[in-house]
Amino acid sequence: MRPAFDPWSPLFVAHPYDVYAYLRENEPVSWFEPTGQWLISRHADVDALLRDRRLGRTYLHVATHSEMCRPDDPAHLAPFWHVIRNGILDMEPPDHTRLRRLVSQAFTPRRVEALRPTVQRIADRLVDEFVADGGGDLIARVAEPLPVTVIAEMLGVPEADRHLLRPWSADICGMYELNPSREVADRAVRACEEFSDYLRGLAAARRGDPRDDLITALTQVDGLTEDELVGTCVLLLNAGHEATVNTTGNGWWALFRNPGELTRLRASADLLPTAIEELMRYDTPAQMFERWVLEDITISGVDIPRGSEVALLFGSANHDPAVFTDPARLNLGRAENPHISFGAGIHYCLGAPLARIELTASFGALLAKAPAMKLVETPKWKPGYIIRGLETLLVEV
Ligand code: HEM
Repeated sequence: MRPAFDPWSPLFVAHPYDVYAYLRENEPVSWFEPTGQWLISRHADVDALLRDRRLGRTYLHVATHSEMCRPDDPAHLAPFWHVIRNGILDMEPPDHTRLRRLVSQAFTPRRVEALRPTVQRIADRLVDEFVADGGGDLIARVAEPLPVTVIAEMLGVPEADRHLLRPWSADICGMYELNPSREVADRAVRACEEFSDYLRGLAAARRGDPRDDLITALTQVDGLTEDELVGTCVLLLNAGHEATVNTTGNGWWALFRNPGELTRLRASADLLPTAIEELMRYDTPAQMFERWVLEDITISGVDIPRGSEVALLFGSANHDPAVFTDPARLNLGRAENPHISFGAGIHYCLGAPLARIELTASFGALLAKAPAMKLVETPKWKPGYIIRGLETLLVEV
């Protein structure tokens, strides 16, 4: 029987990998009626399409909605799209090239490497407090505050305001799930409005009183509009923590399910770099990214016309046996690991080196300071499919 790709089913969300295996073998390019998208499940196709300029995160740089036979944006979503389309993730060249170059200056390997001691210090402090309390929810106490603190400090969001970031981000990210409801859309719109107002206020404050932070630097960049500044900050604050939180939670849950590998890692901290890559592959924090087809294209023998949308199944690509030996096995020493979790092509994750530093710091601190950490109860997956993360991860140290 054909197993169902059903992103709204908790059972599927808990374990999508058998369905992926079926798709890769039998229908590597599969039409999914409920969202009107082509599902792409093989690693070779996902990797090639991410690099293919005949596809884009948007089509608005080459065509209007009606030229693409697509409906106009509903009026109530205007504030959401305004913010999102002013961030590089939803731009294509030439705007993407211009803005990515500007933002990249904050993420050069040297600058990011210079953050390592600060990141480690934050991770150590969070883990020390967690251990002193005997454990608790690893997500709320360590996985979340680390990347939120790091990106907030980089940008210059005052400590007193940081509690606002997670709820705004979560509300905006609701729109990345498939076929979001009106209620989800309204929450995202409200979050975009509040977040933009907040950032405009902060940028104005920094213009009057410059500091050594990224928002000040962005206010001084020639050729960056105020809307682009806001779009960039929202993107950095969201992209800069959401996936890192979930990689940490999913990663520890994978380790608890594979006690042999956890013992191996506890015995040898040298394994940490390959372990982090493997944990990102094994339970991918963002399961799907979408692209618009800008020119007629053929994928694995299937003709796909301009104006279609493809859904690139990262979780499936990361379990493709054509690329990964024994993909269902967690192997923390996996040497060849071309996982796709950070994407590829022009939108390749700008924060990948920083994410790796954060993950190394938090996993390293927990391994060293909580060597007997154990799970208290089986965690539950959050309901979303695309953003894959746990509600909580209760542990004892
Ligand atoms: C484990 C953590 C992370 C994962 C798995 C991840 C994954 C990704 C992926 C897959 C993309 C490309 C999406 C696409 O092609 O459609 C992306 C883009 C991006 N990420 Fe990350 N990310 C992580 C952490 C971070 C961090 C820490 C930052 C910043 C501080 C960041 C900033 C960005 C930005 C700015 C983009 C847009 C790049 C562009 O469009 O040119 N990410 N990320």
